Amino acid sequence: MNPIKLSFPGKKVDVPIYIGENVFDKIQSLVHLKDYSSILIMVDENVAHHWSDRINKIIGDDMPILIIASGEKNKSLATVEKIWMVLSQKQFDRKSLIINIGGGMVCDMGAFAASTYMRGVDFIQVPTTLLAQADAAIGGKTGFNLNGLKNIIGTFSAPVAIISDTSFLSSLPTRELNSGFAEIIKHALIANEELFNGLLKKLPRSPKEIDKMLSLSTHIKCGIVKNDPYEKKERKKLNFGHTVGHAVEMVCQNSITPLLHGEAIAIGMIAEAKMSVLSGHFPKKKFKKLEALISKVGLPVTVNSKYKKAIAEKILLDKKNVKQQVKWVFLEDIGNVKVDVHLPASIVDKGLNYILK
Ligand code: GLY
Repeated sequence: MNPIKLSFPGKKVDVPIYIGENVFDKIQSLVHLKDYSSILIMVDENVAHHWSDRINKIIGDDMPILIIASGEKNKSLATVEKIWMVLSQKQFDRKSLIINIGGGMVCDMGAFAASTYMRGVDFIQVPTTLLAQADAAIGGKTGFNLNGLKNIIGTFSAPVAIISDTSFLSSLPTRELNSGFAEIIKHALIANEELFNGLLKKLPRSPKEIDKMLSLSTHIKCGIVKNDPYEKKERKKLNFGHTVGHAVEMVCQNSITPLLHGEAIAIGMIAEAKMSVLSGHFPKKKFKKLEALISKVGLPVTVNSKYKKAIAEKILLDKKNVKQQVKWVFLEDIGNVKVDVHLPASIVDKGLNYILK
C-alpha cells in the first residue's frame, strides 16, 4: 500500500503514514517488529476495553501492555514517570520500541516518554481517535501538561511509522468522533477552501469517505510540517483556534463538564475567526460559513461566561507568546492565514465576548 510520507529532520527515511480500514492488521509487514529487542504497547482504558483481544492477536499476547487512565488530567508528569519506570524495570534497552495505541493523550505522552528514555527509543503511533489521526499523531510533537498549561513540556521527535486505522473509529462515541472533525475543519480553513466547502456540503460518515477526508487533511498537515518542522513560521498556522481553544480546554478541565480537545478548539476557532472579522480582514460571509460548519458537526460554539477572566489569564500564559505578547493566527480568507499577528486588546475582548453564554 502507498503511504503518505512525512519528512522530518533527523529521519533518514520519511515517516510513512498508513491510512485505511484495518491497516493495523498489517503492522507486522509494515514495520520490522522483529528488529527490536523489546516492545511495550501503550493503550488508554478505552482502547484496552474495546480492542485488547484484537491487539493481542495482531501483535502477540506476550508483549507487555501498559494501560493509561483516560482523561486530560492524566496527561501529566506522574503518568510519564510511570511509563519511564516500566521501561526501566523491564530493562528496555536502546533497541526497544514503544507502540502507542490510543487518542492524542497516549500518542503525545507515549511519544514523549520514548523520545526521552535513554535519550530516545523508536516508537510507532497508532492513533485510534479521529482527532489523533488528523492531528496529534502527525508532525513529531510530543508532550504533557504541567501547572494547568497544555503541552507545556515536550520535545520534537518523529515516530518510525504512523498507522491510522479507521476501523478503530467504530468504538468511538459520536461526541469523540465529532471532536476530531474540529482539527480537520482547521486544516481546511487554513489551507484548502475546496475541502472546507466539501465538508459543508456533506460530512463524511462512511469509512471510505472518512479515509478520503483524512488523507486530504493529512496531506495538508504534512506539507506544512515539511516546510517548517520546528514551528518557526509556517507551522504556526496549525495553531489557529488553539490560543483561545487551549485556554478554554484548560479552564474547563476540572469542571463537571470538561470539554474534549476538539470541542475547545471549535470554540477557539469561532473566537479567533471573529477577531479576524473585527479586524476588518476575514469576510463576514465566510465567518457565517464557519459557524454553520461547526454547528453542522455538532460542536459547541460557546463557553460559560463565568470562565471569561480565567480564559483571558490563560491566554497570557500561552507557550506561543513572546515577551508576554500574544501572537495570533489570523484568517484573511478560507485557505489564507497570517501568523504572528498582534491584535489590540479591544478586539481580543470582543472576540472572547462573542463565545460567552
Ligand atoms: N497540532 C499542531 C501542530 O502539530 O503543529
